[in-house]
Amino acid sequence: MKADNRLIVALDFHTLEDVKGLVETLEDSVSYYKVGMELFYSAGPGVISYLKEKNKNIFLDLKLHDIPNTVGQGLCSLMGLGADIVNVHASGGFTMMKTAAEKLHEAAEKQGVACPKIIAVTILTSINEEDWQGLGMQCSIREQVVRLAKLAKKAGLDGVVASPQEAAAIREACGEDFMIVTPGVRPAGAAINDQSRIATPAAALQNGASHLVVGRPIRAAENPKAAAEAIIAEIANV
Ligand code: C5P
Repeated sequence: MKADNRLIVALDFHTLEDVKGLVETLEDSVSYYKVGMELFYSAGPGVISYLKEKNKNIFLDLKLHDIPNTVGQGLCSLMGLGADIVNVHASGGFTMMKTAAEKLHEAAEKQGVACPKIIAVTILTSINEEDWQGLGMQCSIREQVVRLAKLAKKAGLDGVVASPQEAAAIREACGEDFMIVTPGVRPAGAAINDQSRIATPAAALQNGASHLVVGRPIRAAENPKAAAEAIIAEIANV
C-alpha cells in the first residue's frame, strides 16, 4: 500500500537495530518517522542518517525547553542532521519560540539548506484533568492549548503538537496554513496506554489535524505493517 505522508510512526526504541527491524517490516507503507528522546539519546545521529538513506521524512521530537539562546543554539546544532520537523515546548514562552525560529532560519540560510519546519508542543496528550489541576492552572486545558498555539503562530512557528481533541479549536484560531501534529491517536479497540486525550485516526484528521503520530498501536501490533495499512485505509478518504 502506498504511504500517506500524514501518518508519522513513532520510533520509541533504544537501538538502531530495533529501528531497522520496524522500518524494514513497514517497507514502503510508511514514509514519515518520529525520532524522540528515548532513541536519540541512546542511538544518536546515526539513526537520522539511516532514515535519510532510506528516503524517509523525519520528525525529530526532542521538545527543547530552556532559555531562548540555549534553545536557539541547540536547534542550530541539530540543523545539520537534516530533519524535516523539529520542536520546542510552547510553555518556554513567546521570546523563546521567536528566537528559536529566527536562529533556525538564519542557520538554514547560512548553510544553504532547506529550513526544517519548527513546531511547538502545547500540552502533552498524556495530561489529564487531575494532572492539570495539580499544575495549579486556572483555565481549561483547551483554553491553554489554544493560547499556546496562537502564541506559537505569532512567534513565527509553523505549527503545534496537540491532542486531536483540541485540533478543531486550534484550526479555527490559527487558520488553514498551520501544522497540527496530533499524538494520542488510537484506532477503535486499541490499548490507550498512558495517553489521555485521544481520538481515532479519521476523527483526528476530521478535527483538523494535518499529521498523526502513532506509536504503540503500530509498534506493538502482532502485524505492524497490517496495522499501519489499516490506518492508511481509514484515513484515505478524509
Ligand atoms: O505510543 P504512542 O502512540 O502513545 O506514541 C505517541 C508518541 O507521541 C510518543 O513518542 C510521545 O512521546 C509523543 N508525544 C505525545 N504527546 C505529545 C507530544 C509527543 O504523546 N504532546
